[in-house]
Amino acid sequence: MKLWGGRFSKNTDSEVNDFNSSIRFDQRMYRQDIKGSIAHAEMLGKCGIISMEDSLLIVKTLGEILADIEDGKVEFMIDAEDIHMNIETILIKRIGDAGKRLHTGRSRNDQVALDIRMYLKDEIINIKNMLISLENTLLTLAKEHTDTIMPGYTHLQKAQPITLAHHTMAYFEMFKRDIMRLDDCYERCNIMPLGSGALAGTTYPLDREFVAEKLGFKDVTLNSLDGVSDRDFVIELASALSIIIMHLSRYSEELILWNTNEFQFVEMDDSCSTGSSIMPQKKNPDVAELIRGKTGRVYGDLMSILTTMKGIPLAYNKDMQEDKECIFDAIDTVELCIPVFEKMIATMKINKDRMYNGAGGGFTNATDAADYLVKKGMPFREAHEVIGKMVIYAIESGKALSEFTMEEFKNCSTIIENDIYEAIDLKTCVEDRNIIGGPAKQAVMASIKKGEDFIVSL
Ligand code: ARG
Repeated sequence: MKLWGGRFSKNTDSEVNDFNSSIRFDQRMYRQDIKGSIAHAEMLGKCGIISMEDSLLIVKTLGEILADIEDGKVEFMIDAEDIHMNIETILIKRIGDAGKRLHTGRSRNDQVALDIRMYLKDEIINIKNMLISLENTLLTLAKEHTDTIMPGYTHLQKAQPITLAHHTMAYFEMFKRDIMRLDDCYERCNIMPLGSGALAGTTYPLDREFVAEKLGFKDVTLNSLDGVSDRDFVIELASALSIIIMHLSRYSEELILWNTNEFQFVEMDDSCSTGSSIMPQKKNPDVAELIRGKTGRVYGDLMSILTTMKGIPLAYNKDMQEDKECIFDAIDTVELCIPVFEKMIATMKINKDRMYNGAGGGFTNATDAADYLVKKGMPFREAHEVIGKMVIYAIESGKALSEFTMEEFKNCSTIIENDIYEAIDLKTCVEDRNIIGGPAKQAVMASIKKGEDFIVSL
């Protein structure tokens, strides 16, 4: 019989039974469910709502059930619907009446609201640690390449020279904000809902603060309707995960390009690539492509939860059971992607010569040539025009600006002197951009230092 079977005179239709059951996917919250029940039972005993003997027996038996689950000795039943009732059913089977007292002053609605918060808190910590590890790999890469000049792009057209360290630290900053977003989201999950009951609280004198403290929550929810029916923290995490995978995907896209025969800026290690079943020469950047591909499903998870929640009247409705598969899938996907992405970055070969040569083409020093004229007294708009003409001439004669003779420079502007060569050298172009956040070695080293301080502060 169902735990709620009292008012029913017929058995549930077997198809409806399967349809309702969430044990297939919510069994992963068994640890949180048991921990939550232990805290609840301790509180019931302490407050004299159940006897101390019953409380102790429940706590002890729940501990044994947890150990049995971890040893693979427990088989969950579809018939018991979800993880909450599966565990309660096992408990009652083991200790009878004492087990039947556990659910005093509690509803599955506040129970599931508790479990999901606890589960997300644990996973947020996991994901944060993965991001910290990735950030350390990026810092290592950046430190090795503060002198590795490469082209920076806008519109995927060569724009101005930067360094690989500068490019790498751009992603460091993005993942830094991702970590901060996870921290924020953690705060929102860190509020304890037990005591909300089904929707209207409870008549038992529960000590909610005691339970919150036992379970490591910072505070308790302040409205029982909200406590059981809000899932905005789930949506917030799905959103933070979407942003994380968007960053990974964008980075992947760049690496896929850099790994092409046309660019050859990097070469993916054999250990992180795959071959083709027909073309013997192929080595494909599948890891990066799969991450880019999986981004779609994480966005889908976010949209799915958002849409599920948008029309649900207060308080709990069964629709909300649909939040779990989405957020679990988003978590699993991101947890799958971050470590392989890190491995790919850590093992790829950097082709410094190709990067340097790439930075040399495409007139990436044209802005610096214009700035040179400005420093000699010409207004910037006029300098822009003079260098624009210079570029037309360079294209026609198939030369880079640095290959101009002095005479050719003088033809463009008589104020140009011999020091132009130094001024438009790629190294000068990078080193002169010594501004906070700029690509010059000193500026990048300062950002790296701040990045290291941030990671240490976590
Ligand atoms: N399995 C349910 C869920 O995930 C638990 C809460 C069920 N509450 C209820 N009144 N049917 O949402």
